[in-house]
Amino acid sequence: MAPQNQQTRLTQPQPLPGRGLNPVLCIIVALVLLGLLVGLAILITYLTLRPKRLVYTVEAASVQDFAIAKDDHISAKFDYVIKSYNPEKHVSVRYHSMRISTAHHNQSVAHKEIPAFKQHPKNDTRIETQLVSHNVALSKFNAKDLRAETTKGVVEMEVYITARVSYKTWIFRSRRRTLKAVCTPVMINVTSNSLNGFQRVLCRTRL
Ligand SMILES: *[C@@H]1O[C@H](CO)[C@@H](O)[C@H](O)[C@H]1NC(C)=O
Ligand SMILES: *[C@@H]1O[C@H](CO)[C@@H](O)[C@H](O)[C@H]1NC(C)=O
Ligand SMILES: *[C@@H]1O[C@H](CO)[C@@H](O)[C@H](O)[C@H]1NC(C)=O
Repeated sequence: MAPQNQQTRLTQPQPLPGRGLNPVLCIIVALVLLGLLVGLAILITYLTLRPKRLVYTVEAASVQDFAIAKDDHISAKFDYVIKSYNPEKHVSVRYHSMRISTAHHNQSVAHKEIPAFKQHPKNDTRIETQLVSHNVALSKFNAKDLRAETTKGVVEMEVYITARVSYKTWIFRSRRRTLKAVCTPVMINVTSNSLNGFQRVLCRTRL
């Protein structure tokens, strides 16, 4: 009985040398894991929260039935082709909502809501839309200015894009953010809806 007890007592201390090594191993493993976690966190934060700016351009613009009434009200149908480009390789973008509006000297004359859509990495999406102004009141200054531009044949418009977006990388989705883009000057030929000589416009974006 006694030698058996001794044996068990002897076997118990045996793991001690192993335990002696454990703290070092533990620290190494912990450091490696910590490094991986920090790296992953930085990667996810970078990819989901600080993606490259989305790129918008106005590829084409024309107007039909353009008229400014004597009482300074405008009626017109603006046709825009807007290209949205997602330059990211690993991030897809979901547009929960998008509103496009057009203005002259900061005075909005028409707007439209675009249905929700999703944009995969490296995707180009063309948005063709018609914004209709139906008897919209202009300021006196604006009406005078637009009439003067009309007689020259080209009106100078602005396009504003406001969207609620979220980013997705692998399984991580960012919270919804508001994106704004301003495209100016969009020069539209009012005498013809041919796109001859139309200058595409690169929009400035802010997230
Ligand atoms: C529109 O408003 C912004 C600031 O609100 C101003 O910087 C800009 O010059 C204005 N643009 C026009 C065409 O009036
Ligand atoms: C971008 O995505 C849209 C909608 O998913 C699709 O219709 C379009 O063809 C895509 N464009 C390119 C260049 O892949
Ligand atoms: C508008 O378009 C017509 C037809 O392409 C062209 O003849 C005219 O010169 C254009 N006007 C301006 C001001 O560019």
